[in-house]
Amino acid sequence: MSSTPSAPVRVGVIGAGLMGREVASAFGRWFALLDCPVRAALVAVCDVNAAALDWFRQVPSVEFLTQDHHALLARPDLDVVYVAVPHHLHESLYLDVLRAGKDLLAEKPFGIDLAASRRIRDEAARLQRFVRVSSEFPFLPGAQRAIQIYQAGNLGPLLQLRSRFLHSSDLDPAKPLNWKRQSQYCGEAGVMNDLGLHVAHVPLRLGWRPAHLYAQLQKIYAQRSDGKGGMAACDTWDNATLHCTVDLPGQAGVPLTLETRRMSPTDTNSWELEILGTDGGVRFSTKAPKTLRQYVRGREQTWSATDLGFAMPFKTITGGIFEPGFPDLLQQMWAAFLAERAGLLGDRFGCATPDEAVAHHELWAAALLSHREQRVVAL
Ligand SMILES: NC(=O)c1ccc[n+]([C@@H]2O[C@H](COP(=O)([O-])OP(=O)(O)OC[C@H]3O[C@@H](n4cnc5c(N)ncnc54)[C@H](O)[C@@H]3O)[C@@H](O)[C@H]2O)c1
Repeated sequence: MSSTPSAPVRVGVIGAGLMGREVASAFGRWFALLDCPVRAALVAVCDVNAAALDWFRQVPSVEFLTQDHHALLARPDLDVVYVAVPHHLHESLYLDVLRAGKDLLAEKPFGIDLAASRRIRDEAARLQRFVRVSSEFPFLPGAQRAIQIYQAGNLGPLLQLRSRFLHSSDLDPAKPLNWKRQSQYCGEAGVMNDLGLHVAHVPLRLGWRPAHLYAQLQKIYAQRSDGKGGMAACDTWDNATLHCTVDLPGQAGVPLTLETRRMSPTDTNSWELEILGTDGGVRFSTKAPKTLRQYVRGREQTWSATDLGFAMPFKTITGGIFEPGFPDLLQQMWAAFLAERAGLLGDRFGCATPDEAVAHHELWAAALLSHREQRVVAL
């Protein structure tokens, strides 16, 4: 086991909703990590909603609860702040964190639009803060192995690259509206803002930067229950398919499809990556979370299935035969964030960078333009 510094990194959370609680869970079982060189403790939590804070009273490491994020940021004993709030608040809260002298794990999409993402990135660079953006699925063993297979360069000329993130809960028209379905809070890019970094992170990391794209965007239900007996406009894009062209060294014009869908029948939370070449291919889906599918060229081709088990980037107490799940990924992502912040990531996969977050917003801005003008857009 690597040496463990005696003092844990002290983390504060702003936004004690769905994701804020997941972070408390990841830190609460940090002892499950066997070779993470950094320890961490969640010590302070902020939410404007007092009821949301109450849940954190059961978390032993938490010393401070507040409804005012300025009070949290004024604490000199916090090293890192994680912010998980609606998208229209990203820019102002992220800038407050940076200007308070804290490092930041930001939630995606890193600002409500491209302009906001650039302002956050530039301020982080000016202040020389360590900033990364939340995107946990690449830490899955299947995703890591797919990346390694691609980087080994034995797949032959590439035929198709595909990255997808698919939900189905919005198929129910009776599901009440929330902030993620309203442009003023989620952003004009809608589902791309909400699910998009999950599909863009690996492609951007692997250098698959689209030169051109054509976008198909869909809004399915125009109204939803407002949860108070009335109806309200549901004005975000529900499904987005981006048909992209990528020029790679030695191979121009590779098709890349990026799909984000809130209405994808049968998919509760399916993250999928597929890389097809003439000599081989690799495919991974969270529908089979420990299983990697591969083919190699022959007279006939078949997909083989390899169970990778719990081959996580950071070793844990969990036996190698078991299946990874969403809470495990978040913990791995946090381990990568804190290790990289300490300069101890080594050759492991790192969290999404501010530049990658800006680049993913460039895709969504181009997609909105493509849809509006019904044309292919050059990036
Ligand atoms: N990485 C992932 O897999 C993942 C999954 C879901 C959501 N997210 C992202 O996390 C962020 C939050 O999403 P969520 O699902 O947790 O939302 P949520 O609605 O469950 O929680 C947001 C919380 O922020 C609080 N809040 C609002 N304004 C605040 C303020 N000024 N100060 C402090 N707290 C404030 C709300 O009261 C609420 O409790 C979004 O950026 C979303 O895109 C990421």
